[in-house]
Amino acid sequence: MKKFLIAGNWKMHKTTAEAVSFAEEIAAMKLPNAEDVAVLAPFTQLAELGKAFAGTGIKFGAQNVHFEPSGAFTGEISVPMLKEIGVDYCIVGHSERREYFGETDKTVNLKLKALLEADIKPILCVGESLEVREGKGEQTFVASQLVADFEGIPAALLPNVVIAYEPIWAIGTGKTATPDQAEEMCAFIRGVMGGMYDNKTADEMLILYGGSMKPSNAPELLSKPDINGGLIGGASLKAADLAAIALSANEIK
Ligand code: PGA
Repeated sequence: MKKFLIAGNWKMHKTTAEAVSFAEEIAAMKLPNAEDVAVLAPFTQLAELGKAFAGTGIKFGAQNVHFEPSGAFTGEISVPMLKEIGVDYCIVGHSERREYFGETDKTVNLKLKALLEADIKPILCVGESLEVREGKGEQTFVASQLVADFEGIPAALLPNVVIAYEPIWAIGTGKTATPDQAEEMCAFIRGVMGGMYDNKTADEMLILYGGSMKPSNAPELLSKPDINGGLIGGASLKAADLAAIALSANEIK
């Protein structure tokens, strides 16, 4: 049976009231694979989302975290703060954070380590820009991100890490990578992880595709052997759309 994670990345959308109403709507659908669904929300919504999803099987998490457990870092949120709310996941290294907020492979690596130590599952984002893809450098670029991001992380912790391949040129642009392009890169990432660790560990990892995934293109993307789900931005804002993508995954399972 293929393993899936259908994860909605809400980015900077929704008030807490809107988040709770989304949670109630999707919970009421009683998805058969609710356990494979997650919502990654802004910090202010997390406590209420945790309560709204309790007992539904649906997971929730944050979109960023600081790697230090506490300190003089105005405006930041720590791993213990997320742990207290009971989050399941946390996105790390999204391209928007790398581009607008100075995230580097070094800080990504520190965040992965801090989350894994606290038993929160990181969803690590990697992916190339249009310029890199046009120069046919996507594999070299993504491999170098993986080598730097996983430095010093032992194989035993890998089952707790999810990788999302998100080509920057496909995020929020309506331009989806073709299913073959997405599969090629997800398979490549699995191969790199196999080389850095071992094939068994790599085979069991969840590798997601992200970039303009929506109900209409999800079935074909999700049917690819190396794509274990999606990190979904725009199409995760409506409960019906996220549910439709989750149901496509359930049919393939
Ligand atoms: P998108 O965003 O689905 O709106 O392209 C995906 C992401 O950035 O995680």
